[in-house]
This record gives sequence, C-alpha cells and structure tokens, in this order.
Amino acid sequence: MIPSGLRDKVVIVTGGAAGIGRATAERFADEGAKVVVWDVSSEPRIDVTSRESIDAAVAEVLAQHGRIDVLVNNAGIVRDAQLVKVKDGEIVSTMDDATFDAVVNVNLKGVFVCTRAVVPQMIKQRGGVVLNASSIVGLYGNFGQTNYAATKAGVISFTQTWARELGKFGIRVNAVAPGFIATDMIKAMPQKVLDTMAQKAPLGMLGEPDDIANAYVWLASDAAKFIHGTVLSVDGGLVLGT
Ligand SMILES: NC(=O)c1ccc[n+]([C@@H]2O[C@H](COP(=O)([O-])OP(=O)(O)OC[C@H]3O[C@@H](n4cnc5c(N)ncnc54)[C@H](O)[C@@H]3O)[C@@H](O)[C@H]2O)c1
Repeated sequence: MIPSGLRDKVVIVTGGAAGIGRATAERFADEGAKVVVWDVSSEPRIDVTSRESIDAAVAEVLAQHGRIDVLVNNAGIVRDAQLVKVKDGEIVSTMDDATFDAVVNVNLKGVFVCTRAVVPQMIKQRGGVVLNASSIVGLYGNFGQTNYAATKAGVISFTQTWARELGKFGIRVNAVAPGFIATDMIKAMPQKVLDTMAQKAPLGMLGEPDDIANAYVWLASDAAKFIHGTVLSVDGGLVLGT
C-alpha cells in the first residue's frame, strides 16, 4: 500500500466541529497530520463567509505551523424551500431572499473566501491540495433545494476552474459529491424520507461521515497524486438511479 504521506502535513478543515467535517478532522489526525478546524460553532469562532475572520485564521495557522498543505472546504448549511409553493391551486409561499442568500454565502462564497486566502501560501510552497464539498444534488438538482443545489453545482465549477489555474503550481483541486450521509444536517428529516433515500441507493443504505472522511483523506494523499479537477461521487451508487 502507498503510504498516505500525510504525516505532519498541515490540514485545515472548515466546518470541522460536527458531522462529516469532524470525522474528516479525526481521520487526518489518525494519519499523523496537524489538523486545524475552522468553524462558527467552536472556539475561536471562525466564519468562512468573513474575509477578516479567514485572513486572521490563515495568519494564525502560519504563525503556528509555517505552512498549509491541505484545505478541506467542508462547511455548509441547508435552508430548504420550494421556489414557488402551490397548495390547492394557490401560491402559498416562495423562497425568500434571505434564505437564498444565507446558503449562497456559506456554501459558495465561503469556499471562495477560504481558498483565496490559502492558495497564495500554497503557491509559495509550490504544492498543496484543495478539496471541496459538493453533493449529489449539485449534479442532479433536488426538490426544495434551489439555493443549496446551485451552490453545490457552483462548487464543481470552482473545482474545475481552480484545477486549470493552479495545477501548474503543484496544487491539486478536487471535489467530493456525497450522497445522503447520516449527520445532523439530514437526521432532522422524517424517518420515512430517510428510509426512502436509503432504498434509492443501490447499496440500500445511507452513508456514514467516515465514508466521506476516507474519500477526503485519500484524495489528499500521495496515492491520488494524478487526480485533479474531478468530482468523486461517494453515495452508495445513488447517482445511478437519479
Ligand atoms: N450530510 C449529507 O448528507 C451531505 C450530503 C452532501 C453534501 N454534504 C455537504 O457536506 C458538508 C458537511 O455536511 P454535514 O452534514 O457534516 O453538516 P453539519 O451541519 O453536520 O456540519 C456543518 C458544520 O459546518 C459549520 N458551519 C456552518 N456555517 C459555517 C460558517 N459560516 N463558517 C464556519 N463553519 C460553519 C457548522 O457549525 C457545522 O459544524 C456540507 O458542505 C454539506 O453540504 C452533506
């Protein structure tokens, strides 16, 4: 087996305080990496949507570790609503601006803000890895997720664009498109909906946070040194049935 090459690498995981992000931070730590978590719900509170917050956080990582090897842009939120909801032939609601903007701000602008702040250091080092959290819904859309699905498709465009721009500096950029993973983000859904989701995947189950964490670790590792500009589906085959 090829060693991961992640020992002593400096890895930033955004949204690393919960769910997939926490599992990812733990898996990188298992590989011997020095892991830094940026999250609004941990101390110090770091908000991926704030340029000031992220610039200060980059300066802190560099003061402490002197380099940045991997950025996992995992932080994300959902605020679901139909574009236009109709009941008994009447329009009852629409997705409001605040709901749209909140999701675009974290899931799309946050990825931009963090990557823009980290890449100059990776260029100086002539190497690094950027990994972005897309989703199966970024590939196929989803009922009630105008805002979320658009951001997850946008993240794929980021990945492809940055792969073109940054490859010459030895910086690899890839995305992971999880299917439905049992985290707080989706556990809030009714059990019946979760069962239906599980049944739709050819493997017949939801994923675990570790399934995605393992994909990030592998994509960041030396074993994936020729993988660049791609989207890895980790979804129990759900993508086939969509
Ligand atoms: N769970 C799934 O089924 C699933 C499927 C596809 C994609 N994803 C994506 O994977 C990522 C992680 O999802 P999850 O299910 O673990 O979510 P989660 O809600 O369990 O955790 C998200 C974390 O992001 C943090 N966060 C939110 N806004 C932030 C901000 N502005 N700045 C910094 N941190 C912030 C939260 O505090 C939280 O710790 C998200 O990008 C999500 O869209 C999840």
